[in-house]
Amino acid sequence: MGGVVKYGIIGVGMMGREHLINLSHLRSEGVAVVSIADPHIPSQQLALNLAHSFNWPLKVFSGHWELLESGLCDVVVVSTPNMTHYQILMDIINHPKPHHVLVEKPLCTTVAECKKIEEYEKEKGVYWLPLGSAGGRLSLPDVYRLIWGKMPLDVGNNAKNTSKSWHMCAKIVSFLLEAASHSDASIPQSVVDAARKRQEILVQVGLEYRYMPPVAKLIEIVKGGILGQVKMVAIREHRFPFLVKVNNWNRFNCNSGGTLVEKCCHFFDLMRLFVAANPVRVMASGAIDVNHKDEIYDGKVPDIIDNAFVIIEFDNGSRGMLDLCMFAEGSKNEQEISVVGHIGKGEAFVPENVVCFGTRLAGRDGVQTLKAEDKRIKYDGLHHGSSYLEHLNFLSAVRAQGVQAPAVDLQDGLLSVAMGVAAQLSIEKGRFVTIEEVMDEQKCNSSA
Ligand SMILES: NC(=O)c1ccc[n+]([C@@H]2O[C@H](COP(=O)([O-])OP(=O)(O)OC[C@H]3O[C@@H](n4cnc5c(N)ncnc54)[C@H](O)[C@@H]3O)[C@@H](O)[C@H]2O)c1
Repeated sequence: MGGVVKYGIIGVGMMGREHLINLSHLRSEGVAVVSIADPHIPSQQLALNLAHSFNWPLKVFSGHWELLESGLCDVVVVSTPNMTHYQILMDIINHPKPHHVLVEKPLCTTVAECKKIEEYEKEKGVYWLPLGSAGGRLSLPDVYRLIWGKMPLDVGNNAKNTSKSWHMCAKIVSFLLEAASHSDASIPQSVVDAARKRQEILVQVGLEYRYMPPVAKLIEIVKGGILGQVKMVAIREHRFPFLVKVNNWNRFNCNSGGTLVEKCCHFFDLMRLFVAANPVRVMASGAIDVNHKDEIYDGKVPDIIDNAFVIIEFDNGSRGMLDLCMFAEGSKNEQEISVVGHIGKGEAFVPENVVCFGTRLAGRDGVQTLKAEDKRIKYDGLHHGSSYLEHLNFLSAVRAQGVQAPAVDLQDGLLSVAMGVAAQLSIEKGRFVTIEEVMDEQKCNSSA
């Protein structure tokens, strides 16, 4: 995709505005934020003020559907509360106009929703159609789009008719696919051309901690084999309590997915990267011991835990451990990561931005300490430059027009949620919970 890449941001609360500022630092890379969607007027106003300061005229919508229908954007960033991600993503993926998507973590709040998104993306698949001598591939939404594009403008552009037109499209497409499977009739050249021009919809999940310079450096060390076969990963996050959010959505498990999904999907994603394996089973202990106990919203006290220990076993025999405390403001670092392989050990400290690594052979005297930095970062923001690098990376995938896969895909998003869900369930049940169990909706429901 050449020229200016036009972005829309759905949800412009704290994180949406963070994306807006990050994208303003990518302006020289040919990025423009052209629209936002948010029903909350104060959030809209704060985003508008920011955009004006960047000299970016913004079209403002109160919902994501209007933003999609405007046809203004090539890329949308979804930074709405967790419980809204599923429906918004489904609407984006289903929309006749293709939009690349960067969706904030967690992908969704439940495994079932994540799976539906992933399966839909897969099912959408690619259909081989008899495109005359040229041959070619079309995905189902491509065919929808082609037909949609041929519709009279007053039908395609009239929001009231959208749903009706959409069903009509679906019927025609089914008919075409059926016909195509039974005949070798060729489809007009314009379709072949369109198929050639086809752009995949890229969906990247905002698991951005992997881009933090000390974390990225430690990943590089691990992947370089200096530590040998990774056996143990321990991640400690000791920090301040959850911040106040618009309408306090993050105070309840039903909205956020629970602390170990909402917050800790980042760390479960990192563990999978370090051990290069998939999780098998999870054991956790946690509670709400200090924070939010004196808060009441609509007569209800928050139910999100504020501390936990989680142990994860991976399918290559390696182990992960998470130590989460959200009443630990008196900490030098917010994240301390330790990775131990059969040859050596590496550590990363955030926000000190320090990485240490050494081997068993060289011992304590041989431990090397370095300051991790990434010169590409133009804006540190709230997450030590990781949001900036995430956008830089996603932009390059978007520009590569489907040749380059998103760095953090739907499977990564799904598994990081599954590990969090398993940990939450383990606390509730007081036993190990297998990933297979939470991946199987029926088993999960019957054990709940
Ligand atoms: N990557 C990270 O480290 C990180 C950090 C913070 C938040 N997040 C994620 O970002 C997302 C947003 O969190 P936040 O901290 O900005 O919350 P927030 O409450 O500050 O902002 C959410 C915004 O979304 C708006 N909104 C609600 N429903 C909407 C809808 N249907 N359509 C459009 N807008 C809607 C709200 O009005 C609000 O302005 C969450 O998924 C959260 O987990 C990620």
